[in-house]
Amino acid sequence: MKIGILISGRGSNMAAIIDAVQRGEIRDSEVAIVISDKPDATGLAKAAEKGVPTAVIERRGRSREEHDREIAAKIREYNVELICLAGYMRLLSGWFVSEFANRIINIHPSLLPAFPGLDAQRQAFEAGTKVTGCTVHFVDEHLDHGDVILQREVPRLDGDTAESLADRILQQEHLLYIQAIKRLVAANGADVIDNSFL
Ligand code: GRF
Repeated sequence: MKIGILISGRGSNMAAIIDAVQRGEIRDSEVAIVISDKPDATGLAKAAEKGVPTAVIERRGRSREEHDREIAAKIREYNVELICLAGYMRLLSGWFVSEFANRIINIHPSLLPAFPGLDAQRQAFEAGTKVTGCTVHFVDEHLDHGDVILQREVPRLDGDTAESLADRILQQEHLLYIQAIKRLVAANGADVIDNSFL
């Protein structure tokens, strides 16, 4: 399975995916391209160090769909079959989502549908919830929305700050994203990559 990863920032989930592919934990796969909408995303250098091709495609005042069409062209150039959003901070257009239906997944640091949007870990912390976590889900054109693939709970511990809770969630994100991709790769082998495998 050829995987493309979209990032906007530090790319720790991206790095975890690349490492899992390169050590053979995610089998029969290759991270073909990492695309960032931000030229200064620190994840770009991490991808390059790991030998993965990178591209920067900025929005530059164009419409959401025009931007997405340029990303789609790059994705096709690299024959990408699965698109992983990993801290990609833009909403995708309806055009892009239907063009790659059931082939786009995202990770979010809460147990969706609870706490969508920015700073989900802090939202959960400030709400006083005892259990939060992370979610890998198929992507539609709505923010942090779509069929859930896998979720993992992370308890709030005595003495936690929003930061310590976020750190523990991030560790689980890296494991959960790999687990979800492994399931999708296995489903792809059977040519049933859609939400029927859930
Ligand atoms: C992660 O918490 C992810 O769940 C959210 O954005 C953050 C990205 O972190 N969507 P990183 O760039 O993968 O380190």
